[in-house]
Amino acid sequence: MYRDLDFDDDELIDELRDLGYNLDDYSLTDSEFRDLDFEGYTSEGADIILDVPYVPTDEKIVNAMLDLGEVTRDDVLYDLGCGDGRIVVAAALERNTRGVGIDVDPLRISEAIEYAAHTGVEYLATFIEGDLMEADFSDATVVTLYLLDLVNIQLRPRLLDELRPGTRIVSHAFDMGDWKPDQRQSCGSINIYKWIVPAKVAGTWEWRTTDGDTYRVELKQKYQQLSGKAWINGEEAVLKNALIKGDLIELVISKKANTRPVGFIMRSVGRELVAVEGGLQATPAIKILKN
Ligand SMILES: C[S@@+](CC[C@H](N)C(=O)[O-])C[C@H]1O[C@@H](n2cnc3c(N)ncnc32)[C@H](O)[C@@H]1O
Repeated sequence: MYRDLDFDDDELIDELRDLGYNLDDYSLTDSEFRDLDFEGYTSEGADIILDVPYVPTDEKIVNAMLDLGEVTRDDVLYDLGCGDGRIVVAAALERNTRGVGIDVDPLRISEAIEYAAHTGVEYLATFIEGDLMEADFSDATVVTLYLLDLVNIQLRPRLLDELRPGTRIVSHAFDMGDWKPDQRQSCGSINIYKWIVPAKVAGTWEWRTTDGDTYRVELKQKYQQLSGKAWINGEEAVLKNALIKGDLIELVISKKANTRPVGFIMRSVGRELVAVEGGLQATPAIKILKN
């Protein structure tokens, strides 16, 4: 399908071919990608600077990214730096997913609009010309990226602050520095990565159980890694396990190292951690101190 697209008038693709890249399969390893000399490359006549050159994702990798992101018709997918729109169009065509592609290059946006129209998915696909560093992507439930790691890292605080907990981020070839991925998959020589945006739960929380005990935890958080301390009725206890995945938190606490632990599964809802059905938790956990 993607091979039908006409890239022949694309200067960068020609340059890449001249440089010896095998573009029958458009995938470049991350080091090949990083080595591209794209300084100042812009679409012809347009006064723009790209943070990342245009290199389209190969069809196989597009499908692997959609699988890794578990993309369904209920999602809203944003491709930041969408190129010719192939990820948004594939999600719409194959999974009925609504999508938004953002690219700073007007040539790419017109290709993407034409491609969506040609494949009959324009009712699901929106393409916006703009800078991904400034665009509003807060209603995404899945974000796809084929940028550079430095660009991912620059984008990272916005991804963590502006996306809802549970939103999946899937990146072709490039990681996010010290925000370790929740999953990594190899597709031949190419890696793809997935992160799940964690709720922000650092702080001191307190709740009561159906037994009348008061539990307190002091949680520290680095991305999706939690650690901390626990108390039961004011006495120091043992926080045996603290996990977060999106808006779900699991805490396992015991009175002493060798006593039977109690597990709590909570969902971050607004300013509270609300019990997920079936637990001992009688009241939502309330934040009593920020860290
Ligand atoms: C490597 S290509 C990826 C294209 C597409 N996402 C794909 O995977 O096939 C990167 C794209 O990012 C776009 N881009 C670079 N800097 C940008 C910026 N600051 N804002 C929006 N798009 C940008 C380029 O025009 C290019 O189309």
